[in-house]
Amino acid sequence: MNNFFFCTPTKYVFGRDVENEAGQRIIDEGGTKALIVIGGGSVVRSGLLDRVTKSLEKAGIAHCLLSGIQPNPVDTKVYEGIKMARAERCDFILAVGGGSVIDTAKAIAAGVPYDGDFWDFFMGRKVERAVPVGVVLTIPAAGSEGSGNTVITRLDGLHKISIRSPYALRPKFALMNPELTYTLPFSQTSAGVADMMSHIFERYFTNTTGVEITDRICEGALKAIITEALKIKANPTDYDARANIMWSGTVAHNGICGVGREEDWASHGLEHELSAVYGVTHGAGLAVIFPAWMTFMAERKPARGAQLARRVFDIDDDDDRSAAIKGIERLKAFYREMELPTNLAELGIPDADIDLLVEKVHENKGTPFGSYVPLYPDDSRRIYETAKGV
Ligand code: NZQ
Ligand code: ZN
Repeated sequence: MNNFFFCTPTKYVFGRDVENEAGQRIIDEGGTKALIVIGGGSVVRSGLLDRVTKSLEKAGIAHCLLSGIQPNPVDTKVYEGIKMARAERCDFILAVGGGSVIDTAKAIAAGVPYDGDFWDFFMGRKVERAVPVGVVLTIPAAGSEGSGNTVITRLDGLHKISIRSPYALRPKFALMNPELTYTLPFSQTSAGVADMMSHIFERYFTNTTGVEITDRICEGALKAIITEALKIKANPTDYDARANIMWSGTVAHNGICGVGREEDWASHGLEHELSAVYGVTHGAGLAVIFPAWMTFMAERKPARGAQLARRVFDIDDDDDRSAAIKGIERLKAFYREMELPTNLAELGIPDADIDLLVEKVHENKGTPFGSYVPLYPDDSRRIYETAKGV
């Protein structure tokens, strides 16, 4: 196990009705005026925004609203938010939504106190200071409510880039009411499940040895996610299943599954190009990319895939390569049960421009990228080709 420093300072407030605490929580963090950030309207239709603003008003927190954040959020909305937060003198940013809304809120938070272009942070500049951010989570998926990451697409050139700032950008609090997720379309629930599983896979496929505790946390979480996701499919208002999936999304990405070990993250790089170029849902893209990446790894370095297959999918096979392949088949079968795509055509990209994807992923991630087996352009190409599923 590698040396590590682990600190996850977000305060998680979990359960029914916790969104009504938003105002008091902002006061506790020293905020007096909040920029509320929302997506395309689900929180208006569900009445959530109304409840949250009432909570702020009751607590005496002034507020203004930035709406219309789209999935795979873009830089133009961040510029708009920075301008609004400065003009309105907001000292707190409240994201009410999913990963796209939270990531936009974080990028605005970094941009407000900075004199230059916020995109500098996505080009390598360290985020030193940020306006505090709070979250009311509506979809378990990206794990942004507990991560220090933000992922934004620059429209000029369609560059989707992720940055990590473990302290400045971690939300101060996350209000997590599983009932808020009852209104999710099944396709979004299942894409969220694929995303959180991928966050565990990115950490599970490691070259670090002697990490049995994190291996077992990862395996246990994956088993729980599979069981609880199928319960949601059977009954979308199963509170406990929704609660387990909501907390799994956080556990998968707040760092606990990755301490003391090298992580990979190549599959996220490969997927971000699909989202940037074709606008696909991140989790659905990962349901296609991860089995293809694992297939490549089953040839190149099958040990971790074989352990995953044996421990999570109960595959009984002594040969690492064939065990890994059987595990991938079981994973794909689960994804199909969750009505997720498992190849590029099912994802709606029958004629993917693989040359472009390979060029962009290496431009954005460097060469090689990933760590379990570092990927060169020929490797990335093979994985995208495998994702075609033909
Ligand atoms: O925009 P609205 O109308 O709110 O609808 C959203 C959106 O269309 C809808 N939705 C959310 N909650 C709902 C709901 N519909 C009904 N009822 C509810 N309760 O779901 C759609 C997707 O929302 P989005 O915020 O895009 O989902 P997600 O949480 O999956 O976020 C995806 C983004 O997060 C990034 C992804 O790349 C992608 O851009 N990621 C961020 C990470 C991070 N910051 O740590 C890590 C991840 O790996 C990921 O890359
Ligand atoms: Zn992800």
